[in-house]
Amino acid sequence: MIIYPGTFDPITYGHLDLIERACHIFSTVVVAVAENPGKAPLFTLQERIEMAREATSSFAQVRVESFSGLLVEFVQAKKCRVILRGVRAISDFEYEFQMALSNRKLAPNIETIFMMPKENYSFFSSRIIKEIASLGGELSEFVPPLVERKLKEKLSQL
Ligand code: PNS
Repeated sequence: MIIYPGTFDPITYGHLDLIERACHIFSTVVVAVAENPGKAPLFTLQERIEMAREATSSFAQVRVESFSGLLVEFVQAKKCRVILRGVRAISDFEYEFQMALSNRKLAPNIETIFMMPKENYSFFSSRIIKEIASLGGELSEFVPPLVERKLKEKLSQL
């Protein structure tokens, strides 16, 4: 089992590419949606979970759960030892390095492993997608249709 944590605000084709890769290696992939109030997500936790569930419904090995508080505590409670994170570019490195080493300090028995999404997905993020959406840009290459719908719906309510 591996735990793939993130804010998933919203889930993108980049995340889904990583989830599919992880399914080839691990028997169970738990997508752990962080409450993360510090990041002031656009979508509520429930909305992020629902989008992640729908987007991963074709993967039998994937479970979508949520957590608040420390990631390592969630991982330990699941009796898991491995965290998955995606790295797109060098710019991700510093943040990921800090997070992986902080988590190691908190829980030395838990390892973080990194995977790279397909090159097509290496340049975009949930943040950029929200910006494109808010400016009325084309989203179909970035997110599944249901997420595109939810983004448009959400932005029209703001
Ligand atoms: O998708 P994101 O926003 O890059 O995911 C960040 C996330 C949720 C993995 C990170 O913020 C996290 O683990 N939050 C839980 C709080 C925690 O454990 N913090 C200490 C380690 S940095």
